[in-house]
Amino acid sequence: MVYLYTAISLMLTASVPFQPVAASASRHHNYLHLEYRNVAVRDDLYTPTTTIRPCAPTDIACVTDAPRSSLLCDKINGTDVAGSTSIWTILCDTDFYAQDIYPFVLVDTFAECLQKCEEYNSRNGDGSCASFVFAPDRVHLDNDCYLKSGSKNAIYPASIHLIGAVLRPHTATSTTILPITATEEPSTPVDSELNVSTSTPVFPTGMSIQGRRPSVVNSTFLGISIDEPAKQYVSHPPAQPVKLSGDALEAGININLITSYNLASDTGTWTSGDVLTHRIAEMTVTPRLSRDGGRGSNINGTNVFIFCDTSTFGESKDPILGYLNGFVSSSVAVDQSMNGLDGKPISLVNTLGQWQDNVGRMRGWVPMTTGEEAFNTAISGQGYRYAVWPNSSPIPLNKTHAIMYAPLVYLEIDMQDQSSPRYTSLGNTLLLITVDSVYGPHANRLQNQFFQENEVNWGSLGGVRAWSPEGQDSLAGSIYVFGQASNGVMIGKVAATDFGSRDKYSYWSGDTWSTEMPPQDSTRDAYMIDQPVMNMDLIYSPAHKTFFMIYLTPEADNSFYYRYLVGKDNSTLHITPPYENDGDEDYVEQLLKNAWSEQKLLFTIPAPARGYAYAGGLHAGYFRDEDITNGGTKILCTWTEHTNVDPNIPNSGYAHKSQVIDLGWTQWPRSV
Ligand SMILES: *[C@@H]1O[C@H](CO)[C@@H](O)[C@H](O)[C@H]1NC(C)=O
Ligand SMILES: *[C@@H]1O[C@H](CO)[C@@H](O)[C@H](O)[C@H]1NC(C)=O
Ligand SMILES: *[C@@H]1O[C@H](CO)[C@@H](O)[C@H](O)[C@H]1NC(C)=O
Ligand SMILES: *[C@@H]1O[C@H](CO)[C@@H](O)[C@H](O)[C@H]1NC(C)=O
Ligand SMILES: *[C@@H]1O[C@H](CO)[C@@H](O)[C@H](O)[C@H]1NC(C)=O
Ligand SMILES: *[C@@H]1O[C@H](CO)[C@@H](O)[C@H](O)[C@H]1NC(C)=O
Repeated sequence: MVYLYTAISLMLTASVPFQPVAASASRHHNYLHLEYRNVAVRDDLYTPTTTIRPCAPTDIACVTDAPRSSLLCDKINGTDVAGSTSIWTILCDTDFYAQDIYPFVLVDTFAECLQKCEEYNSRNGDGSCASFVFAPDRVHLDNDCYLKSGSKNAIYPASIHLIGAVLRPHTATSTTILPITATEEPSTPVDSELNVSTSTPVFPTGMSIQGRRPSVVNSTFLGISIDEPAKQYVSHPPAQPVKLSGDALEAGININLITSYNLASDTGTWTSGDVLTHRIAEMTVTPRLSRDGGRGSNINGTNVFIFCDTSTFGESKDPILGYLNGFVSSSVAVDQSMNGLDGKPISLVNTLGQWQDNVGRMRGWVPMTTGEEAFNTAISGQGYRYAVWPNSSPIPLNKTHAIMYAPLVYLEIDMQDQSSPRYTSLGNTLLLITVDSVYGPHANRLQNQFFQENEVNWGSLGGVRAWSPEGQDSLAGSIYVFGQASNGVMIGKVAATDFGSRDKYSYWSGDTWSTEMPPQDSTRDAYMIDQPVMNMDLIYSPAHKTFFMIYLTPEADNSFYYRYLVGKDNSTLHITPPYENDGDEDYVEQLLKNAWSEQKLLFTIPAPARGYAYAGGLHAGYFRDEDITNGGTKILCTWTEHTNVDPNIPNSGYAHKSQVIDLGWTQWPRSV
């Protein structure tokens, strides 16, 4: 109730249009009209305070207010702007639909708007800014100057007063203006009719645009993800279990069990390379799963979901209750039906390569060492075990491979009440992930232990891939990894080709990159952001031309939040990756040169039946071209919650849930 009230009053006072792009009732896309309604709301709140400079009656450069410029328009409409090297013909109250170069720029006068357009031309070639419009009555608001790549689709009169100008090219090709008369609606522009350039305009990196802010325009709960029952497994001779000597089986941490043993051959998933001698056989039960985690991303075209602790249940005589027959610390699934695209719950297929036997026991997605496995087999019944919990989004390495820094944990549980587990972090392990077309997502545990028990778990909070000018096919560029500190997030980096070498990493110290690893209790100087998080994703959004961080806080308040990168003066950034024209090779370094917006709510989850939502994240690439990581504005967020229902009945124990968010803009729906 309280929240609802706050949200509504916020909408009124801040006049957020909240107009979903797809929801505009007409096909007219009359953006200026929306904007205008918006201004009307603000007018009540806004009292102009700026005094108007005395101007000569025909001095257009001096225009700062709407009434004065309306009078002026009678005299200057259709004339050329004096004192410019190019020939600009003034046009009053005419807008040019769907050709915005920038969403808008904030200036004080018509002359400054003209100057922005000419600056753009001097950087990007003559005529790339072909027209512009200046809105004098918006000078004191947050946007008033619109640079345009063309001058087609003219709308006259525009719904607000504008003074604009059209470039008359030096060449013979003349600019066509198609005026639309006052009473007619714009002639229903069908997208294919609009002569809109599809090539991305060239933006100098770091250039700021005022006014337009990212905001949630649609948020829809998809429901609880559904496990498709598995029917087949790979039949193979059972592995010979490794026996440990007596002292290795005593309760207590023994790092050697991680570092000094080979990977166990009966853990990890099969791949096409392994199984040629084995046989695919039918399950004799319909296995049921109860698990948490579920972070993931699109890897080589497949949407991969990675889970942590997973219990498997066989069937018993009781039609509803199963019996617990196995337990692994990770498992994996893929989404083949892509129901999420239609707003339906995600449907998860538990791929062939991870099943151990005909009664539905699992191999565990991340391979365990024989030391970890033998210890768990021998004494996990007494409340002690080693676990590998891959609980961050995979970091892309190239188009086909991703990596993950999965935490290693030692758990102690009081078997009497089962209520107060103690976790000890033992560093993390490095995984290289591929998707086998037959057997499913596969994790190659490259190093048993990568970052160590006394170090920050670099990468276990996720990371971000800095692509090179060669784009996503190439292994060039860097990988940035995040490290959890007490009150914020630290950042390290490594060349993508060297991600497997500990000594090639460097770490941000606050003013330089240093090979010295900062400690867990670092001060805020070393932080990328002084925001403690429970889970986090950091992505570059091509549509917004900036970075977003999407996170859950340690307050465990069942909410996803976001911040986006802004200039130190709060200006909107315009960051271009190096695989685009005029891109910035060091674009990810912008994270350290700018500031984060204030915290914004992405969405709130209704309170779970027990505990709080956790293992929350953004599933990069789910919506293909419409995905925020690929130039669109859609985001799939997933998380786990306790159902407070006995885990051995269907859909219980834990629920993996998802929500679709459309992260558009507060003003001016997505422009071309
Ligand atoms: C300005 O001139 C253009 C053509 O030169 C004309 O179509 C338009 O109606 C004029 N606008 C005003 C406000 O006079
Ligand atoms: C669209 O623009 C292109 C290139 O500027 C031009 O060749 C084409 O004729 C234009 N189409 C329409 C429908 O105006
Ligand atoms: C919001 O998103 C959902 C799920 O993608 C979709 O079904 C719905 O139509 C969207 N609503 C609007 C108003 O765009
Ligand atoms: C990536 O996907 C393509 C198309 O499905 C497949 O042919 C290729 O083998 C995959 N590559 C890897 C490394 O898995
Ligand atoms: C992608 O990365 C993997 C792992 O390093 C490598 O084997 C593969 O050759 C890479 N693919 C390309 C196209 O570079
Ligand atoms: C940036 O914006 C935030 C919130 O709107 C405000 O609290 C902060 O003071 C602003 N910072 C600057 C440097 O303008």
